[in-house]
Amino acid sequence: MTRESWGTRFGFIMATAGSAVGLGNIWRFPYTTGEEGGGAFLLIYLLFIMVFGLAVVMAELVVGRMTQRNPVGAFKRLGGGQWPLVGMMGVVAGFVILSFYIVVAGWTLAYVFLMAHGSLADASPANLEQVFGEFISNPIEPVLYAGIFMGLCALVVAHGIGSGIERASKIFMPILFLILIVLVVRSITLPGAEEGIRFFLIPDWDKVSTNTFTAAIGQAFFSLSLGMGALITYGSYMPKDHNLPADASMVVVLDTSVAILAGFAILPAVFAAGLSPGAGPGLTFITLPAVFAAIPGGQFFGILFFILLAIAALTSAVSLLEVVVAYFVDEHKMSRRKATIMVSLICFGLGIPSSLSLGVWDAKFMDKGFMDWMEYLSVNLMLPVGALFTALFVGWRLGPKAIKAITNEGTLPVPATGLWLFILRYLAPLGILWILISSLN
Ligand code: PHE
Repeated sequence: MTRESWGTRFGFIMATAGSAVGLGNIWRFPYTTGEEGGGAFLLIYLLFIMVFGLAVVMAELVVGRMTQRNPVGAFKRLGGGQWPLVGMMGVVAGFVILSFYIVVAGWTLAYVFLMAHGSLADASPANLEQVFGEFISNPIEPVLYAGIFMGLCALVVAHGIGSGIERASKIFMPILFLILIVLVVRSITLPGAEEGIRFFLIPDWDKVSTNTFTAAIGQAFFSLSLGMGALITYGSYMPKDHNLPADASMVVVLDTSVAILAGFAILPAVFAAGLSPGAGPGLTFITLPAVFAAIPGGQFFGILFFILLAIAALTSAVSLLEVVVAYFVDEHKMSRRKATIMVSLICFGLGIPSSLSLGVWDAKFMDKGFMDWMEYLSVNLMLPVGALFTALFVGWRLGPKAIKAITNEGTLPVPATGLWLFILRYLAPLGILWILISSLN
């Protein structure tokens, strides 16, 4: 059977940007920026994206395109030996991330309805904090929403690459950009918005600690969908004649722009409403509804915002699911349909304790609840380790062969291929290692 492939360049870029642009950009990035001191975090983040991000994006895509396989099969083909373990860790990471991702994504669906229903109007932050707290700690509702969300992802993935993932991304991503722009304009024209813009753009170096660097690199990898083979998988459906470096750059630019735009959509509005940006994960679910309750047309913009989040989450969750499904299809010869249903059900099952750990099941293991552990292990450990080995693999093991592959056998003029290998061989591994070690201390 011939492997499916992306229909058009636009389709590939929308799908891959769809994977990259997600809760990471719109929910996680603004609150992490708020917690880690604003502008200083932004600068460190941008530096990591430029130095490590693009290089590893290209590395993953090329491994996929060279092998036309899922991460495990790809490392098996090109590396053999113990290398498939790197792919396996990616498949596991994808599965773990998806299990809590659907929980948060479920909240965004619920909030579309809460907004539309007017239940979040005229509420004070204290009140909204209570609404949010009660919602996420409820043992049933958030679990149901996570299930609905998982079902939507399964529906897309079951339809395959061209008529499932590509088609959905081509419809949803342009809508996402449009909504985001509307929200940015609303936010930065609010009276008092300047203070938020200043917070976002002017670095305060006193707030920077080693933690800022760990947070920035974890965020960079998470946001670009790196370190777990999502881009290996998406690269595996990429036709050989596409300009891989150009497409990769486009995806990185789109992902970074969305994160920055999300910062502009959220932080100025938060300051304009006289609230604090350091609220952590609750920023988008507590602080923002308070903002929407306070501004003209707030309900409309609120609905738009949560639709935006839900769309971003869907196209990313789809890529997480696709990694695991591609693994079962390629390596275990399962049908796409069967693999999708099986993986979705098990993943939903693993999502339930995550959701419950925010309410009825509040057991803590070393200060972290179940969901915190899932996130910590996958995002702060598995993704950096996965990216580290992918960089080493492409830099050392493939080396010049990888350059041949990204230049389409030398027919494409690609600048700085030597620098690319240098980053993959030395800079990225050392940088990631340093940050991993300092975060474990
Ligand atoms: N990049 C996605 C986001 O920013 C999350 C993701 C991580 C998706 C890893 C796929 C793989 O939300």
